[in-house]
Amino acid sequence: MKPGHILAIETSCDETAVALADETGRIIASEVASQIEIHARYGGVVPELASRNHNSDLRPLVEMVVERVGWSEITAIAATSGPGLASSLLIGDTTAKAIATARKIPFFSINHMEGHLLSPFIATGQGIPKHMALVVSGGHTLLVDVSGVGQYETIGTTKDDAAGEAFDKVGKMLGLPYPGGPVIAKRAENGDSAKYEFPRSMVGSGDHHFSFSGLKTSAFYLLKRLAESTGCPSDSLPESIVDDVCASFQEVVVDILVSKLFEAVAIRSSKLVSLSGGVACNSRLRERVQAEAEKHGISFQPVAKEYSTDNAAMIAFVAFCRMAADLEPSPLDSDIDPNLQLNSR
Ligand code: KG4
Ligand code: ZN
Repeated sequence: MKPGHILAIETSCDETAVALADETGRIIASEVASQIEIHARYGGVVPELASRNHNSDLRPLVEMVVERVGWSEITAIAATSGPGLASSLLIGDTTAKAIATARKIPFFSINHMEGHLLSPFIATGQGIPKHMALVVSGGHTLLVDVSGVGQYETIGTTKDDAAGEAFDKVGKMLGLPYPGGPVIAKRAENGDSAKYEFPRSMVGSGDHHFSFSGLKTSAFYLLKRLAESTGCPSDSLPESIVDDVCASFQEVVVDILVSKLFEAVAIRSSKLVSLSGGVACNSRLRERVQAEAEKHGISFQPVAKEYSTDNAAMIAFVAFCRMAADLEPSPLDSDIDPNLQLNSR
């Protein structure tokens, strides 16, 4: 395939994103038009609003990014085909296929989770080494034993809510703005993480799976008790109590993620761990994984914060890895799949 630049489009949820990778896989542009403020009013993503906004934001973003090198330099195009919201995925997928047809360039249909999975290795120049990956986003919690590009063994998933979803739901209960994750992390900085007890669900369960819904239920009852004792509604508790709940909740989620990750590391004798997905922005989580990796004498490759929440750089990077591994482009009649799983190729 002709070497050149890869243009990538990501519209799986509520971020419209476009990126450009050069022939070495280096990201030379990565633009994200966030819809967070639009959806925050509703306390979560409204699918119809998301697709309408992708529709209006995508074309100007593509034009802005392509201007960096010019259309003639773009030799391949990639778009996220799942998992995500069907109506949102269709906007990016259809746009990319239209560009591929008009420009007569190959099209790559990319799994959003593979994007998060490989994102820690963007710009490392070391390819995709064998490692144990923890992917923690708003929709997924995955433990994956990675052997190389396209060689993934998913050994753990969540039985109910994803880690980010648990942050968002507890944030909502506390009356904090959407998405809850970053706000809880900020409030936790001033709180006491030992103040309130939460169950360490699935820790020591003997498998690699996660469960966060019990944690959410226990947060619900804690807030109910705090509302009774303070006389304030549970979504407007006194500031210092909210800070302590945030710190205690964050600590238990981090505890669960770290212990499950390192149980898997011990069993699989991994020499390297990676961390990615929106929740990988969490400084406490990064700090705890780093400390535990040092204790185990292994390396830690976290995603760069700019590529942890949804972006198109990770989609461009997967397309680059596929091209570098001589994998075939996708047919133009390939479909989107809102429930796409992470499989080995
Ligand atoms: O990967 P992402 O952008 O979207 C999905 O593919 O789901 O992840 C978004 C998730 C949200 O649940 C958000 O609350 C969470 O990542 N998040 C955080 C932090 N920043 C974002 N969770 C905890 N701490 C953070 N600092
Ligand atoms: Zn994501």
